[in-house]
Amino acid sequence: MKTRMVSIDRAAVKDSDLAEPAAILGRGGLVAFPTETVYGLGANALDEQAAARIYAAKGRPSDNPLIAHIANKADLGKLVKEIPEAGQKLMDAYWPGPLTMIFRKSSLVPYATTGGLNTVAVRMPGDAIALRLIELAGVPIAAPSANTSGRPSPTAAAHVFQDMDGRIDMIVDGGPVGIGLESTIVDVTGERPMLLRPGAVTVEMLRETVGPVEIDPALTGPLQKDVKPKAPGMKYRHYAPKADLTLVEDQEWKDGAVSAKVIETIKALALESAKRGRRAGIICTDETRQQYPQEFVIRSLGQRARQETIARSLFGVLREFDSLDVDDIYSESFPGDDLGGAIINRLTKAAGYHIRKV
Ligand code: TXA
Ligand code: MG
Repeated sequence: MKTRMVSIDRAAVKDSDLAEPAAILGRGGLVAFPTETVYGLGANALDEQAAARIYAAKGRPSDNPLIAHIANKADLGKLVKEIPEAGQKLMDAYWPGPLTMIFRKSSLVPYATTGGLNTVAVRMPGDAIALRLIELAGVPIAAPSANTSGRPSPTAAAHVFQDMDGRIDMIVDGGPVGIGLESTIVDVTGERPMLLRPGAVTVEMLRETVGPVEIDPALTGPLQKDVKPKAPGMKYRHYAPKADLTLVEDQEWKDGAVSAKVIETIKALALESAKRGRRAGIICTDETRQQYPQEFVIRSLGQRARQETIARSLFGVLREFDSLDVDDIYSESFPGDDLGGAIINRLTKAAGYHIRKV
């Protein structure tokens, strides 16, 4: 299959530019497109065969359900059995935006889309290209992140191309995404809303809108054999770079700054790797970059003082390390408040929970 690329200016989205990708989606094809979180790999969410094509293109286990994306809040009713009060409040507050909610599914949604579950994940994205494309396609669009299963989610069209060239019909290039981490997922089918995946709509924001929110126990540590995450996708190894990644973390955070102890430990670990004939990489931040010896492969994620810069570049940096010849990566860590909750969730998974506390 030949994969075509079209570029679209997010600030001036024209229907004529989106007519073709919308038509491809309408006839059951696969189109990758930008959202404000990460690039999605879209297909008609109501078409079982189209959903099957998504799983094949990603190499994704078919028990891992897809998120149905809609362009209007009014379209939610058709996909779900009921809209619980918490769901209504959260969609009023955060849609369109980086929030996915789990509802009981209606009979319209095929099990091929929900990985056999009786629930369905739904999100109304905020990106202008995504919204208009879904609207023109005229159907809800199932869209997992547009990466090969297990790799970091794509935050630019070039990442999608690396993973999906030859496997899908089209990539709509809308430039780099704004947030860089996948949407927050909240299950609203139970008595209390439960956070299944942290994202840019933070726990603090959720609690402000609906009161108490539970946190899936699977989020707080490495997966135990008897604990199943409620979001099936969270059980798979994710985002892992080819090199061995270790997070070096302070026992205690002081104003979100990295201590000298962390920097010294990272330097010592990188030096040890070098002594063993292994090439070492370091993931740091703008505030600390100058403190690491230039002999190592060093990448900064952005500014600690502006968490959104870290979120935006994290997956791109993890991907970049795969193209560099590095055996061991040592990374600074981040405090878990606000957007830090989502950042540290992805970094911890990328490191396979390999954390060195100092
Ligand atoms: O930001 C995002 O959410 C991106 C963009 C493209 O919208 N999409 C995305 O999709 O991250 P994906 O498939 O990579 O991640 C969806 C997660 C998976 O962990 C999946 O297991 C979970 O959502 N999920 C989907 N349906 C679910 C359901 N019915 N119950 C529980 N978890 C569900
Ligand atoms: Mg994904």
